[in-house]
Amino acid sequence: MKILLAGGAGYIGSHIALALLENGQDVVVMDNFDNSSPEAIMRVEEMTGQTVSLYEADVTNKKVTLAVFKKEKPDCVIHLAGLKAVGESIEQPIRYYRNNIDTTLTLLECMAKTGCKNIVFSSSATVYGEENAAPCHEKMPKGKCSNPYGWTKSMMEQILQDASVADKDMSVVLLRYFNPIGAHESGRIGENPRGIPNNLMPYVTQVAVGKRDKLTIFGDDYDTPDGTCLRDYIHIMDLAEGHLKAVDFCVENKGTEIINLGTGQPYSVLDIVKTFEKVNNIQVPYEIGPRRGGDLPAVYADVSKAEKVLGWKAKRTLADMCRDSWNWQKNNPEGYE
Ligand code: WQD
Repeated sequence: MKILLAGGAGYIGSHIALALLENGQDVVVMDNFDNSSPEAIMRVEEMTGQTVSLYEADVTNKKVTLAVFKKEKPDCVIHLAGLKAVGESIEQPIRYYRNNIDTTLTLLECMAKTGCKNIVFSSSATVYGEENAAPCHEKMPKGKCSNPYGWTKSMMEQILQDASVADKDMSVVLLRYFNPIGAHESGRIGENPRGIPNNLMPYVTQVAVGKRDKLTIFGDDYDTPDGTCLRDYIHIMDLAEGHLKAVDFCVENKGTEIINLGTGQPYSVLDIVKTFEKVNNIQVPYEIGPRRGGDLPAVYADVSKAEKVLGWKAKRTLADMCRDSWNWQKNNPEGYE
């Protein structure tokens, strides 16, 4: 099969590209390199000894995107193209809505024009909102998102679902990611955020490598066992392998299916810091700061549906995630630069 990864050169896309190639699939990547690097795809090619058809292109550009669909004729699209910084989305909501909704509409229009019926979408646990107590189950009604980034995910889910209602031959798989961390075991590809990291693990690794003085833990007065927030961290290679199963499911079925990708196991911010220090034998200086607006005390998945529907379950441990995140960071202190 040929899979088009829209926004495929980023952290998640590069690991999916690797897993697909290792599984014998053909991979096409479209990316504008806004928050990603062609170097990631070059390394994926080097690691697999295979070639990726790489297009430097903005998925909001319909003319260019349609030309790629016509030339490549993908069997399935994995839609990862979008802006994803929560704080930035609060400052620049219009840019977030314009970009993220636009990529989705453009992909759907190009799929309709060229007869591609299958799309797997990179959604987020954030769509459960604060109304739903963990563990989050796919049957729960979606909640109110705490920021525009989250709303774009929620709206894109709705758009994709509506498209599959109108076209009975379409297949849509909405994958709700929990907290992907870690890197490929080789340390050759990994997460490479621009500027100050928004997310916990890249901040931890940058403190460990000496690029930042200390981690600030956002609040230790939550109603959780150690007072810090609980999340469902999932190894990026487990997440990537979940996509292989999702693509198979997508091309074999019709309609819309919503599936959580997590481990189902909650860990606290302090669990992450302590495990990271222990498995890597390195100190991560930290201080306790105030809560961050919009953070929920506990977000983790009910993962029974992924196992039942996809036959997929995350295998890697928190120690694996911490070891592989550090392996990537220490071997690439400046990321891909
Ligand atoms: C995890 C925990 C923080 C940084 C967000 C989006 C989600 C997805 C992933 C993105 C929280 C704490 C963090 C720090 C800290 N989208 N923390 N100090 O908030 O669960 O999810 O990112 O692409 O949709 O909502 O992930 O990694 O930001 O935070 O104490 O410097 O770490 O408070 O408890 P989050 P995160």
